[in-house]
Amino acid sequence: MITVASQTTTSQVIPLTPLLQQLTPLVLKLTPLVLTPLVLKLTLVINMDSQRKFFVIGNWKMNVDKSRIDSIVKFMTAASLDPTTEAVVGCPSCYLSYARQQLPNNIGVAAQNCYKVAKGNFSGEISAAMIEDCGCEWVILGHPERRTIFHEPDDLIREKVTHALKSGLKVVACVCETKEDRDEGRTWQVLEAQMASLASSISDWSRVVIAFEALWASNTGILATNNQVQEVLSQLRQWLRHNVSHSVADTTRIIYAGSVSSDNCQQMARLADLDGFLVGSAALRTDIIDIINARGSYVSRIVNFFSEQERSLKRI
Ligand code: PGA
Repeated sequence: MITVASQTTTSQVIPLTPLLQQLTPLVLKLTPLVLTPLVLKLTLVINMDSQRKFFVIGNWKMNVDKSRIDSIVKFMTAASLDPTTEAVVGCPSCYLSYARQQLPNNIGVAAQNCYKVAKGNFSGEISAAMIEDCGCEWVILGHPERRTIFHEPDDLIREKVTHALKSGLKVVACVCETKEDRDEGRTWQVLEAQMASLASSISDWSRVVIAFEALWASNTGILATNNQVQEVLSQLRQWLRHNVSHSVADTTRIIYAGSVSSDNCQQMARLADLDGFLVGSAALRTDIIDIINARGSYVSRIVNFFSEQERSLKRI
């Protein structure tokens, strides 16, 4: 098109109507080809500009030994992981050093719990300093299993978060709702109380990821719908906006937990307020690769779309 225009000298008089008639089908063909990628590019830029790096933590819970860790490390190391995702594994305390040594540096290692003070006579507990001494920088606190099976109250979790942050660790701070909470319509009331307690312990939000778990959707055979997940995540972000600050609401990563797998991660990865996943069972399988790459595959699809449009343009 440009070539045709440049060959036209100013002295030539081209009748307008036939020219328009010639150009109209081309313009009609080109408009969606040009506009659609622009709109998609804008969407992508908005997503990328959110300053919230996609975050996936595979929580091994109490389900690994050295040989299982070896096999997970093998498939995670062999895979191509989306570099725009921050990937971490949640490891039992006795294997923290081992996992740290086996895993490449682009995969972080988190402890699944730690106590609220630096040291002392607390048999069975580990401290934030010990986690750091094992070469790890993350800890999961207030996990729903700690809250429900071990009856950890909000106050204890708050004290643990305060101490972990003060010690220099980064924290995946969990909030959750049970089936009863949802059935009895008190989901938000419960989450709000947990958030208020957590927030009172957090001075540096840049080292905190909030994980929301729908406990009723964890290993129960029931899956939360995208709408249910988005609704809660958006409420959590609004809560941060109104009770902490706009910038904390805009920059804090809020992730979802509850039977996330290869099958549902890609759809959920597109939710506006979702910044990643806390993954249990699927973290023991190669599913975790797809989950780490869930946002990337969306980006790849857009990139492929651009390439396809480019090829179409060249064919015209
Ligand atoms: P799930 O566990 O993915 O198996 O539901 C998540 C978690 O509790 O960390």
